[in-house]
Amino acid sequence: PRRLWLSRHGESEYNVLGLLGGNSNLSERGMMYAEKLPELVANAVGDQPLTVWTSTLKRTQQTASKLPYQQIQWKALDELDAGVCDGLTYEEIQQKYPEDFAARDENKFEYRYKGGESYRDVVTRLDPIIMELERQENILIVTHQAVLRCIYAYYMDVPQEQSPWMNVPLHTLICLEPRAYGTIETRISANI
Ligand code: G3H
Repeated sequence: PRRLWLSRHGESEYNVLGLLGGNSNLSERGMMYAEKLPELVANAVGDQPLTVWTSTLKRTQQTASKLPYQQIQWKALDELDAGVCDGLTYEEIQQKYPEDFAARDENKFEYRYKGGESYRDVVTRLDPIIMELERQENILIVTHQAVLRCIYAYYMDVPQEQSPWMNVPLHTLICLEPRAYGTIETRISANI
């Protein structure tokens, strides 16, 4: 891409409750981000053409719902599948699956949830997305934290074992400009 814009979905109802995964709606605060995003994007992108990619989950589509650009939904952009831990809090996981909890902490990139995915699995399923991105000009991707960590790490050359630990803040638009000598990054917070 010439420029790649990245954003997490706005805060969701599950985020508020500290629950993993699911397919919840945005919280009120998350909706405020969705309302503000068009202005944030217009100021940053100007009048260049832009295409918006979301996942198939409600929280990314609700976040992008006010944006006046073409939108495409990709299953490959869905959040890391937490398998049997979907819908639990980290505390509940630690109680119900203490060994898994420890194993994940030990090697977060390789750890695969029972019936779900690892970060390595997500990197693999993102392959076609990265391929398609390379053919595109300006794309805004609205997706989930784990997926953004993988895309961000690819463009910013972050080592695999570090990427699952990166914090990608809510309500922030990240711009990546790939150049011959490296990728330039800017961040714009919506202050929500
Ligand atoms: O917000 C949750 C992230 O998408 C995944 O969290 O891989 O750090 O447990 P985690």
